[in-house]
Amino acid sequence: MHILVLNGPNLQLLGAREPGVYGAQTLEAIMAAVVTRGHAAGVAVEWAQSNIEGELVSRIGAAPGKFDGIVFNPGAYTHTSVALRDAIQGVALPVVEVHLSNIYARENFRATSLTAAACIGQISGFGALGYSLALDALVARLRVEKKGKDRV
Ligand code: DQA
Repeated sequence: MHILVLNGPNLQLLGAREPGVYGAQTLEAIMAAVVTRGHAAGVAVEWAQSNIEGELVSRIGAAPGKFDGIVFNPGAYTHTSVALRDAIQGVALPVVEVHLSNIYARENFRATSLTAAACIGQISGFGALGYSLALDALVARLRVEKKGKDRV
């Protein structure tokens, strides 16, 4: 099983960026932990980060055939991007949306996610742990789906 963990704008600044909101861990450290967790579960995890909306759209569009699912933190594009929502909806892959902070407990504009409705679920507010929870949920869903298919 191959999972892509995709990170949107400004997440390369984790560690230095508003640590009171996003925690003190760097993106590299968080991703290393997710890769290790995947490895322990027999799952290959690849990760990427981009500040560019179109690049994220392209990565999602190119994922089928290469990846079985995506863990996605769209950053601020969560609240603005119809293009990312369409990209998620356009690929027949399960996507789990993740946010380090609880987007429902912050400014009003963060409480709207344009992308979440195209995802199988969302994890918000658990800090870096959210990525591992999202990976576990995605892998569990994919394994259940595979079992269902094997039975047919
Ligand atoms: C974020 C929440 C977004 O509102 C914000 O723009 C981010 C990070 C999070 O992980 O909590 O960049 O996606």
